[in-house]
Amino acid sequence: MDLYYAEKCSIKNTGKNITGHFIKGDAATELMILQDHWQGKLQMIYLDPPFFTGNAFYFKQRIGEKGWEGDTKYIITHQAYSDQWIDRASFVNMLRQVLTLSHKLLKPEGSLFLHLDYRFSPHARLLMDEIFGEENFLNEIIWAYRTGGRAKRHFSRKHDTILFYRKSNQHFFDPEAVGKPRGPLKRNNMKRQKDKDGRIFWSIRSGGKEYRYYEDSIIIPSDVWDDISHLQQKDPERTGYDTQKPESLLERMVLSTTRQGDWVGDFFAGSGTTLAVAQKNGRKWLAVDKSVFSMYVSRKRLLQLISEGFFVFSDSSLKITNSSDSSNVLYTVSFSDKNTIKVKLVDYSCKQIPCLSNNFLDYVDFWSVGYINSDRYFVQDYTFRTHTNPFIKQELAIPIIEVKSEIAVHIVDIYGKQSLIIIR
Ligand SMILES: C[S@@+](CC[C@H](N)C(=O)[O-])C[C@H]1O[C@@H](n2cnc3c(N)ncnc32)[C@H](O)[C@@H]1O
Repeated sequence: MDLYYAEKCSIKNTGKNITGHFIKGDAATELMILQDHWQGKLQMIYLDPPFFTGNAFYFKQRIGEKGWEGDTKYIITHQAYSDQWIDRASFVNMLRQVLTLSHKLLKPEGSLFLHLDYRFSPHARLLMDEIFGEENFLNEIIWAYRTGGRAKRHFSRKHDTILFYRKSNQHFFDPEAVGKPRGPLKRNNMKRQKDKDGRIFWSIRSGGKEYRYYEDSIIIPSDVWDDISHLQQKDPERTGYDTQKPESLLERMVLSTTRQGDWVGDFFAGSGTTLAVAQKNGRKWLAVDKSVFSMYVSRKRLLQLISEGFFVFSDSSLKITNSSDSSNVLYTVSFSDKNTIKVKLVDYSCKQIPCLSNNFLDYVDFWSVGYINSDRYFVQDYTFRTHTNPFIKQELAIPIIEVKSEIAVHIVDIYGKQSLIIIR
């Protein structure tokens, strides 16, 4: 089922203004299907796959107002994804398939960033040489960070490796877009001066020549990125999804390799960092992730950013049910005026433990009302909690559209279960 979201989405919309598309599914499988429509269309792809750690990774789900206000008793943990493999070969196989299919989706001016760490980056470099061609290698970027914990038997491992390859020598690269002004920091052995136009510079003489460094000139980052920190525990960007990367890291990659309106791909979308950065900067995005929690987290993140156009979340496992088969959801429907219908949730029961609240709305993480037309759900109104607004609405409104289509309610609960129910 395809779910279309926008401020107020017309059901006549044919999909021409799509600014983003998220597909819940396995990357290799979905990329095979995407080849028909998307070959040669993406300007940039960022891939942040599992790192072959042998671990499971989690999503922290906040519950009700209390959870969203920070009470840690009202947080439950779900496994978001597993990074456990039968052997190294099965991991290589997955990565090879995704990289080969990603390469085909890129434009000739396009490029790809592959984010890994010490466990797999040497192997991945050879894989990338094979698929992209050695001559298309651009950088081995070192993202160095300061996180807690020090190793005792070797030097602490405090960097990730991001391999940067182009599709061809026509690749687009605009490093100035991510440059930073040199700034007023004091420089040893240099003199601070003003030129005749009033611009401040620092100068040094060497070999009879004067070298000037203007404070307002732009410094372009090298391939060692040590100025971007990992997200802190209480960082407002945090979504509760393990392995979430900072937006500033993605900004550097997106802004240096794409222009406004370009398509950016991320096929291990996680918490939706790439999509959020693309959306904020006027780029369009195509995303895949097999975790249901990645879909829920990314959707809420993107819905807080959308201003124009609309985006689609596709989830083939989501089936339409009839209200008679959905005894756990109770709602009332009323006309508020001749143009609007109001849908009110009056009960939602999920038979799961632990029982953390007596308020049924605390079990609802997200819900929306909309129309179903030709196997597409066009969302008209939605509600969910955020840190700044920890309340979820009990009633949503839907305009009456004169087209033969069915009204439906979509509910996602805090345990990750979702239902799409036709209202009779
Ligand atoms: C390291 S996380 C990505 C984090 C992301 N960059 C962010 O900032 O939140 C890896 C993601 O890959 C997803 N994943 C793992 N194997 C996958 C596969 N075969 N197909 C699609 N997604 C997969 C996981 O569900 C997880 O969300």
